[in-house]
Amino acid sequence: MDFSGSHILSIDQFDHSDIDTLFSVAESLEPYSLRKKVTRVLEGAILGNMFFEPSTRTRISFGAAFNLLGGAVRETTEVKSSSLTKGESLMDTAQVLSGYSDIIVMRHPEEGSVESFSQASRVPVINGGDGSNEHPTQALLDLYTIKKELEANHKTIQGLRIALVGDLKFGRAVHSLSKVLCLYKDVTINLISPRKLRLPDSYLRLLTESGVNINEFENIEEGIIEVDIIYMTRIQEERFKNKSDAKKYRGLLRLNEKIYTANCEPNTVIMHPLPRDSRQGANELDSDLYKNPNLAIFRQADNGIVIRMALFALVLGVVEQIGKTSREVNWHTSKRH
Ligand code: CP
Repeated sequence: MDFSGSHILSIDQFDHSDIDTLFSVAESLEPYSLRKKVTRVLEGAILGNMFFEPSTRTRISFGAAFNLLGGAVRETTEVKSSSLTKGESLMDTAQVLSGYSDIIVMRHPEEGSVESFSQASRVPVINGGDGSNEHPTQALLDLYTIKKELEANHKTIQGLRIALVGDLKFGRAVHSLSKVLCLYKDVTINLISPRKLRLPDSYLRLLTESGVNINEFENIEEGIIEVDIIYMTRIQEERFKNKSDAKKYRGLLRLNEKIYTANCEPNTVIMHPLPRDSRQGANELDSDLYKNPNLAIFRQADNGIVIRMALFALVLGVVEQIGKTSREVNWHTSKRH
């Protein structure tokens, strides 16, 4: 892919070499995300950070990534504080916002909405999540995390054994992650979900056609034996037409220290795109795993910064210039790992 000026709408746009390019730029940006160096390479540029659905990680990390490259951020955090509530179309909104911004990140509850928005935008648009369809930048930061965690255990993505657990029907992070794993050889995926929340057939077909080994389970204890990574997900209550249906699945699939210790190989890495649902009755990823060194969920969230910085640098064509405006930070408390 030619990153420069492109919209980033789906993980389908990425091939192996695009991912290698992105990860190589991301690694070069770690001194900046860790606050050892600063760069002003995007000084004067404006990010339109348009979130029409709740978010903590995606919105803040996209904004922080842009700030860390020297750019400024303007944002909307909900539909009701935008003129969409007055009946303005997404097309008109795109025309207007792209006049105010150099690049736009957008999250919206409707599938395909970000793509429609991009068609009317005069600047590149990045999909921050469209309904239950896709969350491509989450898949990229997940894959980057998988690579790093496996490398620490002397393994590679080729040969990966991963369990995807929870709401595989509505979980857009799982949808994008399973698509990107199709690019790798000798991958085994254990799909663990209630029967009615299985991964949709279109994704199952894609995985099978790409040579991924698939096993399906309804029981977490059986599905997490002999995997390198457990990827937990929340029941996506906001996607259910009938909210009381969602409640039936709350708390059905849980990982805690006892289940982990009884069933997992040593060093099995625990991931979750977050937010996890820590309310009583849900609790799919128990806080008793907090001190387990294999719990990678906060390293995973941190990786959102470098991956999103790398995307901005590639799409806005400034990778070669980052070093020219680089200097050491002025303060003394650089980030700890
Ligand atoms: N992982 C993720 O998309 O988190 P937020 O909903 O908080 O952005």
